[in-house]
Amino acid sequence: MKTKVGIIGGGPSGLMLSQLLDLQGIDNIVLERQSREYVLGRIRAGVLEHGFAKLMRVAKCGDRMDAEGELHDGFFIAENGVKRRIDLAGHTGGNSVVVYGQTELTRDLYEAREKMGGNVIHNIDDVEFFDLKSDAPYLTYKRGDEINRIDCDFIIGADGFHGPSRKAIPKDVLREYEKVYPFGWLGVMSQTKPVSPELIYSKSNRGFALCSMRSQVLSRYYIQVPLTDTVDDWSDDAFWAELKLRLPTAEAAALETGPSIEKSIAPLRSFVAEPMRYGNLFLAGDAAHIVPPTGAKGLNSAASDIYYLYHGMLAHYKNGDDTGLEQYSEKALARVWKAQRFSWWMTSLLHTFPDNNAFDDKMQKTDMEYLFSSEAALTSLAENYVGLPF
Ligand code: APR
Ligand code: PHB
Repeated sequence: MKTKVGIIGGGPSGLMLSQLLDLQGIDNIVLERQSREYVLGRIRAGVLEHGFAKLMRVAKCGDRMDAEGELHDGFFIAENGVKRRIDLAGHTGGNSVVVYGQTELTRDLYEAREKMGGNVIHNIDDVEFFDLKSDAPYLTYKRGDEINRIDCDFIIGADGFHGPSRKAIPKDVLREYEKVYPFGWLGVMSQTKPVSPELIYSKSNRGFALCSMRSQVLSRYYIQVPLTDTVDDWSDDAFWAELKLRLPTAEAAALETGPSIEKSIAPLRSFVAEPMRYGNLFLAGDAAHIVPPTGAKGLNSAASDIYYLYHGMLAHYKNGDDTGLEQYSEKALARVWKAQRFSWWMTSLLHTFPDNNAFDDKMQKTDMEYLFSSEAALTSLAENYVGLPF
């Protein structure tokens, strides 16, 4: 088979790029290891920067997001029971975020690909990369017992953190930066009314908690837990009891509880791989970088990669201009590192760190005091939360 752009991974990054390129008549194929049902069964974050929402509209996938997503122009930070609002709109000249689940967004992208007759091949395995440094790279993959070959101009590694693309970059070229945090997030989804109309990030002596939502009848809550905990350690009752202890009194009293429809633990990690391009292989999204979920920058960091790649490819195919592709790694990484900084900072501000000493505790307390005493600090938080420009 021959195509212009071979995309590994049918998560939001791969699908979004495929859809944008197809709309411009740029032929591409997406290879996904899992079934569509499996991909749509994964529960991930649910806050979209306004720039990401815009890209969904450019991809002609924004209708349901615009109809069902909720515009939030603020959120709360609680500290030991005292809740204060971050006025996102007020500090950013009217910007906001869209609360819309990544699962729904991925469903919209799949539907759009299907409608356009996009080539998305599921249940493939054993992707191998060849001649990445040449003008005629190709890849092979296995589907059932068959080995297939795809020749293309460019290969996009949008295959998540565990995918093979990043590993195709030679070790003496690739540099990896990583920070692992000494805790995870236990997340629960429940068919209950969200306790607050806006998200609450709550710092308490018992550890961090987050009240989020997918809709007015679907809540998403998280609590910080030790890395040694497993889902089996947490009955629904134990989860709700602990969550209440970490929320302000009014929210603890008002919290509507119910059976969990999903419960999982995710460790927290910061990770960046540089460069994001090797020959004609381009990495995008989780394949190149991971953030801890505090601040919901995972999907949004992927969005800026896709934006730069899309514009780079457009300039290449429409005008023969390769500047955008040549600058891809540098430009994408500049924004990636800013999202890394913000996610690391918000994680540091709000969690209980088991190994902190008295000085560290004072710094964390002062960080919070400074935030709420300074319009400049609040503006910095707000402009990062709604998303830095692409
Ligand atoms: N071959 C083909 N596909 C693969 C392979 C492989 N060997 N390995 C992994 N994949 C697929 C995964 O099954 C997954 O569907 O690549 C896809 C990568 O999707 P994501 O992990 O969702 O990564 P990405 O599309 O970059 O999305 C960005 O935003 O909220 C964050 O981390 C969250 O997934 C999220 C990310
Ligand atoms: C979520 O709704 O899953 C969510 C929201 C905000 C975050 C992280 C996760 O910072």
